[in-house]
Amino acid sequence: MAKYNLPQSVSYEAADNTLVILDQQKLPQEIVYLSLTSLEEVWQSIKELKVRGAPAIGIAAAWGLALHIQKQASGGVELDSIFQLARSYLASSRPTAVNLFWALDRMARCWELGLAQSQSLTALKAALLGEAAAIQEEDAAMCAAIGEHGLSLLEPGMRLLTHCNAGALATARYGTALAPIYLGQERGYNFSVFADETRPLLQGARLTTWELQQAGVEVTLICDSMVARLFTQFKIDAVLVGADRIAQNGDTANKIGTQGVALLAQHFKIPFYVLAPTSTVDPATPRGEAMVIEERDPTEVTTIGGVTVAPAGVKVYNPAFDVTSAALISAIITEKGVYSYPYMF
Ligand code: MRU
Repeated sequence: MAKYNLPQSVSYEAADNTLVILDQQKLPQEIVYLSLTSLEEVWQSIKELKVRGAPAIGIAAAWGLALHIQKQASGGVELDSIFQLARSYLASSRPTAVNLFWALDRMARCWELGLAQSQSLTALKAALLGEAAAIQEEDAAMCAAIGEHGLSLLEPGMRLLTHCNAGALATARYGTALAPIYLGQERGYNFSVFADETRPLLQGARLTTWELQQAGVEVTLICDSMVARLFTQFKIDAVLVGADRIAQNGDTANKIGTQGVALLAQHFKIPFYVLAPTSTVDPATPRGEAMVIEERDPTEVTTIGGVTVAPAGVKVYNPAFDVTSAALISAIITEKGVYSYPYMF
């Protein structure tokens, strides 16, 4: 895929053992890169959505673990407990996106292999850096493949709706839901993209519109409450969304509001596509009911852009994700191809 003007969400600087992230809380007003030098800073950045989106969270956590071990001066049993503590700590940052646990498990397998082979501390450190780099590179390749498979379902000139941000910012590169849009842009498909604002944290308004604009894709912002009107008024040809966790039966957790869009898409007979790498498919989750849904701070709902919009003391419900049942999903697109209902991965 061509090199667009796409943002780099996460990168590792070997020279000073720092993880550089584009602060997604500051976008689009400010473009600020943060250099993270400690495990705590990585945890905090994931928790506060400075780095966000299921694949990007996994990549950041993998680098966070590698970065932490680079600082250790001696090996042995103590080092293993330092590794395991750091792994559990990072796993506690956010509960829903399975890519976080997938990436940490992958790092742990690399670590355990190194210990089993009695590798030196230097070799263990290098192996962790190599594994984190592989996780990041493979994610970019998976996103490119998702773009190809996703584009095979689309026609030139289509009007597409997306929810939240499943773009370059949320992955190593290209995104998942946005990957076919970037590929289509390169091949002259002239898509029109509509982006839901995605309250409470406005990932659609702040991030999706910004990164699509940067790449020269035509994009129109709507409030979440406008989806039914959009479907009634304009011919929307397809909905493309990402995923935070996909159960074995295809039930899909994604950003709060996704389920409502899927129900409306079914009503209006509009194809509803989920695009995600296989690292988002959770072998340990048979169905959607079993998924842990993160609930976040009430102030995310009572404020917009730091301005309070609700009376003090009001009760708030703030689930960060919802689960779209597999039957509402027209196809799930991974790097391996296009799957249709009933889903079997
Ligand atoms: O809370 P966020 O912003 O991390 O939620 C992100 C989403 O829900 C994305 O749609 C999902 O992680 C897929 S990103 C390729």
